[in-house]
Amino acid sequence: MQATIHIPQHIAIVMDGNGRWAIQKGLPRIAGHRKGVEVVRDIARACAERGIAYLTLFAFSSENWRRPKEEVAFLMRLFTNALEREIGQLHENGIRLRVIGDLTRFEPSLQRQIQRAEAKTAHNTRMTLTVAANYGGRWDILQAARRCASNALNAGRPISLSALNEADIAKYLAIAYAPEPDLLIRTGGEQRISNFLLWQLAYTELYFTDTFWPDFNAEAFAHALHWYRSRERRFGSISAQREAPAYSAKAV
Ligand code: IPE
Ligand code: IPE
Ligand code: MG
Repeated sequence: MQATIHIPQHIAIVMDGNGRWAIQKGLPRIAGHRKGVEVVRDIARACAERGIAYLTLFAFSSENWRRPKEEVAFLMRLFTNALEREIGQLHENGIRLRVIGDLTRFEPSLQRQIQRAEAKTAHNTRMTLTVAANYGGRWDILQAARRCASNALNAGRPISLSALNEADIAKYLAIAYAPEPDLLIRTGGEQRISNFLLWQLAYTELYFTDTFWPDFNAEAFAHALHWYRSRERRFGSISAQREAPAYSAKAV
């Protein structure tokens, strides 16, 4: 009955600390990004093995364009190469890939590559791996509101403002196919959201670790899951109600 309390159904990760990991080792920042991709592979595998249904990774934020252009260019190449290299293995492992964010800012060739990868893995059911690229939580809420309004207009059914509810907006969010994250992990020591899934993190358990992403391994991941199991998720209710069999986050 309480399986979802112990094993998160959806984990979101802010993979931070690549640059500092590299600098600490006397390496260029890009070496940290390269090592970070290997960690993505390990953690995605660990999630699939543990039966976690959704893993969502923050790979590039709407604000990351502010970085030196050489670093941005490197990150784009890394994304392209990783996609190329990993998609076969993901597919074989039954993983569905989705990429969320404003993809229009990417090179057309990368956009096409993303479409192909999504199409190839579309029917896989073991786990959904979502990569957030040129993603911002504010962008997501805004695009959802716009699409909600424009779809209603196009259908000749202008929205009644008094009837508009959260579900109307939520169904247009870029990650509407997934339940809200149960657990957010942020590596690299910062304790902030950095414009990640603003809407969806409303009741997510937040786990922060000083470990830099390139050092985040199976043991560190197990530690995060162990911490998650110790949390009591009340969703605004009180502990006594949680004991009751009818308790459910959705029963609000
Ligand atoms: C996260 O690591 C990766 C991206 C944002 C692309 P950083 O590059 O932010 O690493 P730090 O925070 O500078 O160490
Ligand atoms: C958040 O990391 C974005 C990603 C991990 C992709 P940043 O390193 O960009 O976050 P800030 O700038 O420190 O908040
Ligand atoms: Mg950072």
